Amino acid sequence: MPVQIIVGAQWGDEGKGKIVDHLSDSVDIVARYQGGANAGHTVVIGDKQYVLHLIPSGIFHPHVKCVIGNGVVIDPIALIDEIKQLQQMNISIQGRLFISHNAHLIMPYHKLLDTIRERTSEKIGTTGRGIGPAYIDKFMRIGIKISDLLDRDTFVAKLKRNIEEKNQIIKKIYGDPELDVEKIVSEYEEFDKQIDEYITDTALYLNSEHKNGKRILAEGAQGALLDIDHGTYPFVTSSNPTSGGACTGLGLPPTAVTSILGVVKAYTTRVGNGPFPTELKEETGDRLRKIGGEFGATTGRPRRCGWFDAVSVRYSSMVNGITHIAVTKLDVLDGFDKVKICTGYKLNGKVLKTFPTDVRSLEKIVPIYETYDGWKSSTSHIRRYPDIPENARRYLDAIETLTGTKVQIISLGARRDQTILIG
Ligand code: GDP
Ligand code: IMO
Ligand code: MG
Repeated sequence: MPVQIIVGAQWGDEGKGKIVDHLSDSVDIVARYQGGANAGHTVVIGDKQYVLHLIPSGIFHPHVKCVIGNGVVIDPIALIDEIKQLQQMNISIQGRLFISHNAHLIMPYHKLLDTIRERTSEKIGTTGRGIGPAYIDKFMRIGIKISDLLDRDTFVAKLKRNIEEKNQIIKKIYGDPELDVEKIVSEYEEFDKQIDEYITDTALYLNSEHKNGKRILAEGAQGALLDIDHGTYPFVTSSNPTSGGACTGLGLPPTAVTSILGVVKAYTTRVGNGPFPTELKEETGDRLRKIGGEFGATTGRPRRCGWFDAVSVRYSSMVNGITHIAVTKLDVLDGFDKVKICTGYKLNGKVLKTFPTDVRSLEKIVPIYETYDGWKSSTSHIRRYPDIPENARRYLDAIETLTGTKVQIISLGARRDQTILIG
């Protein structure tokens, strides 16, 4: 049965939450595979807006089971907060939420080290959620997993070892106050009580449900250009948002995957530092930010805005194996006289047709643009593809041709019904 992966194909915030919610109607399971509470996935239902950080965006469909996979790093405070918010909205999660016993925990020292590092070294512009330091510990093989909470002695021993080490760094190098083991133990014991019923071997669960014919949607966080391996390193996140990350982050084999949907905004945004070839630092950028409401769903930071970049999306399609794309926020361009798409990069006078991931090259890129006539009319009420203004269809055709992808979904507003499915 189908396993579809949803990936952000730019620098995150493409509208994955909205698209996952929309597609959840016709799946049985939605599973998050990487990242943590650095993600902010917005779902708008009627006049209400919900922002999810850890819980999959399928949660608003009562028939959907939601999995937080082994590749996710879990911040207990953020998770409990999110569970409480859902309960207050009368959204039942009992029997619907499955948390991997193999997922790693974000500890208070991870958040502290994240913010200290941002203060003292080259600033990445992280979300400050402790993501990088938690993945460092995972790959150092000293991380604390959800399953460690199930055995007090193991948990305390691991925590003590970690804190001794972290205190040396925090106090000696950064001069900040030391961390208290007992305080952390009691906080995490309380957390364990609250999530105990959801802890599952999710790789086993997903594989057996897949065999049972259930339809699975793997929800990525961030975007391909923020990927630790394929993104604009070092200005990236510390996980693999690209489609390969779905297999490692869930324990589903690559042979089970049937399609990969890339989500792209009709323009481009980026939060935090790092190269952004099509960034508009003048009033057009401000206009996109204002109309698109481009402020971070997690941190509230203003997002940097620019034109659609076909070179980076073509690259993203290559490393993800994208089979179709969803183009979101087309309505944001409704009022523009002219809209532009970057079709190539110029570097030191030479034209590049491929995306260089090294930052030094990217910072020197001069984008080559094609300009399209705007459509100058509102699209947010349109529900059928043929009703989309001709110039907007021409713009979508150009995105298809220039990125080598096929548009399957067009989003013309944040609400569920503002979506057109093609084919
Ligand atoms: P995600 O991280 O990829 O899930 O995206 P975010 O939720 O961080 O940011 C996308 C923002 O755009 C949210 O505020 C959504 O409600 C909003 N949004 C999604 N699709 C559309 C659309 O087609 N048009 C408009 N105007 N807003 C949209
Ligand atoms: P969603 O899932 C946009 C960015 C941060 C920073 C870099 C590293 O909502 O699309 P981190 O805290 O991960 O170590 O920060 O990655 N970043 C995101 N940008 N959307 C996100 O998630 C992001 N998650 C992290 O701004 O530049
Ligand atoms: Mg977001």
